[in-house]
Amino acid sequence: MPQYDSPDLSRFPNALIKNEAEYQRLCQWAKDDYEGFWAHQAKALINWRTPFKTTLDEKDAPSYRWFTEGTLNVSEQCLDRHLDKRKNKIALLFEGERGDRQAISYLELYYRVCQTANMLKEEFQLEKGDRVVLYMPMIPEAIVIMLACARLGVIHSIVFGGFSAEALHERIVDAKAKLVVTADGGFRHGQPYLLKPTVDQALAKGCSSVEATLVVRRNHQDVKYQPGRDFIYDLIVNEYETSCPAAELSSEDPLFLLYTSGSTGKPKGVQHSQAGYILWAQMTLKWVFDVQETDTFWCTADIGWITGHTYTVYGPLALGATTLIYEGVPMFPDAGRFWQIIERYKVNQFYTAPTAIRLLHKEGADLPEQHDLSSLRVLGTVGEPINPEAWQWYYEHVGNSQCAIVDTWWQTETGGNMVAPLPAWGGAKPGCAMRPLPGICAEILTPEGEKAKADQKGLLCVTRPWPSMLRTIWGDHDRFVNSYFSDVSYQGKAVYFSGDGALYDQDGHIWVTGRVDDVINVSGHRLGTAEIESAVAKHDDVAEVAVVSCHHDIKGEAIVAFVVLRDSSYDDIELKKSINTVVRAEIGAIASVEKFFMWSTPYQKSRSGKIVRRLLRSIVRKEELTQDISTLENPAIITDLESAVSMTKT
Ligand code: WTA
Repeated sequence: MPQYDSPDLSRFPNALIKNEAEYQRLCQWAKDDYEGFWAHQAKALINWRTPFKTTLDEKDAPSYRWFTEGTLNVSEQCLDRHLDKRKNKIALLFEGERGDRQAISYLELYYRVCQTANMLKEEFQLEKGDRVVLYMPMIPEAIVIMLACARLGVIHSIVFGGFSAEALHERIVDAKAKLVVTADGGFRHGQPYLLKPTVDQALAKGCSSVEATLVVRRNHQDVKYQPGRDFIYDLIVNEYETSCPAAELSSEDPLFLLYTSGSTGKPKGVQHSQAGYILWAQMTLKWVFDVQETDTFWCTADIGWITGHTYTVYGPLALGATTLIYEGVPMFPDAGRFWQIIERYKVNQFYTAPTAIRLLHKEGADLPEQHDLSSLRVLGTVGEPINPEAWQWYYEHVGNSQCAIVDTWWQTETGGNMVAPLPAWGGAKPGCAMRPLPGICAEILTPEGEKAKADQKGLLCVTRPWPSMLRTIWGDHDRFVNSYFSDVSYQGKAVYFSGDGALYDQDGHIWVTGRVDDVINVSGHRLGTAEIESAVAKHDDVAEVAVVSCHHDIKGEAIVAFVVLRDSSYDDIELKKSINTVVRAEIGAIASVEKFFMWSTPYQKSRSGKIVRRLLRSIVRKEELTQDISTLENPAIITDLESAVSMTKT
């Protein structure tokens, strides 16, 4: 393991957990009085309209309910309650890719959210419980619309702008959304790109629930508007009042849905609640990122992902911090853009994905030195394992060996960080997520439900409910129970299984080793192998397909497809391109296949018809094969596959 100096711990004088004893004290408190611990936090960090009566209701486990009978409004937590002390403080800093900038105060954001909420209510007749799909660039209006939904108790479901019309259509239909909010487009790589036509295509596939679309004009490209259905945001929003009463919502009312990949082809609409979610978003920002009153927090995640929800929008705003958003790509105009932004806005906490760190390291290792990054105190990573080299570069060259690196493990389903180092601890190990946060019972278990021993690979589970956990999968509660609470039992009780493998080292610290289910992680984006397989299989020349992942230096993992062809008239390169065109149309560019292995004889199934992904993954990774290959339809193919793989650079 590479050596590094301890960060300058004197830079965290106000950290909430200052040392090991503090951490142990909080963990012990949660252990001795779990509900008391959480009740205390919820009283301290949420302005309740009506105080809650029961902290945790477990009687319908695993349908847990937190803080029941309490009422609140999340947009009030993020806006109204700051107006006394912080009305002129900047809530949101925006930098467009072409350098256009906005600084929006809490008061201004409040007015914009109220106007938008009034518009949603009056123009589009939206009510508590209705669903709105957002398909947006990273612009302030996206955040305004999220908070306006929260103000009314309308459930937002954000679909990442890189998803295709087909993927968007599937999510709109599943959520039965009444309204789709989009933009004409945005700017990426210095060029305008379009979003609205993709929404048109999605709606043309049939979305009977959708009554209207709302379009924010961002890049003023020439897009078509359908009279009667499409409304232009900036033309109507200013007609509305700048105050709007916030709905009184129950702790357990849904706040948002966010679709994520599982091991079947159909994405899961992960549903989060109000109180538990907003509580943990704040606690983790304080504990893990040491966010203080004057700090500027920058999380680079798009709002289409959970990290964007919790650490770009809800967490920082609920705390009354200043949050920063950047519209574009890290490489525009060059690999110094992030460092330039950190210097300009004197960012204190920076949170990004290992893929971005590896890319910026490769493309401009010495660029951070050309900027004054001395405002930084905490550097975070999320979404995939970080390799020690990338960690080291981040620590030394971005953090100048003075910042804490927090490698945070969590998921769409967990709502916020679960396992993470704490900044004032010191002693973080490159690539290690370290220990569960106080109150979080994350444990590595064997499939039999025993606690794993040091260095023994096991399953990363959470053995007690926690406030910000998902509440269900939208419209499919059985799938919620089966996906998360049916694999592992601990002390006689079904516990939450994350889908990740992990191990304890000799110090009891947690190393996350990656997914053990059929989910792969490309550049920190979760994709289901079954989803990609069904996209590839839509190509006319594909008879069968199996998808696995291989190592990729920048993206962490890349997609490999083993394809059995029908008769193909294409040449090899054209065929690969045309399969990827289908994949992009079905899911989006993030699911493009990196490497193909094509045959005309069937090979990737066992005699019982199961796809042998594990075996194929071992072949791709050039691991020793421990699986029984005699059950294959065609075991003789293994040697051919191994030699084909050995001729490639995987
Ligand atoms: C992976 C992102 C290693 C993991 C917040 C998890 C990580 C999936 C880490 C969730 C980490 C997340 N180290 N792996 N620090 N953080 N992962 O739902 O496989 O997009 O299950 O949430 O990312 O991805 P999701």
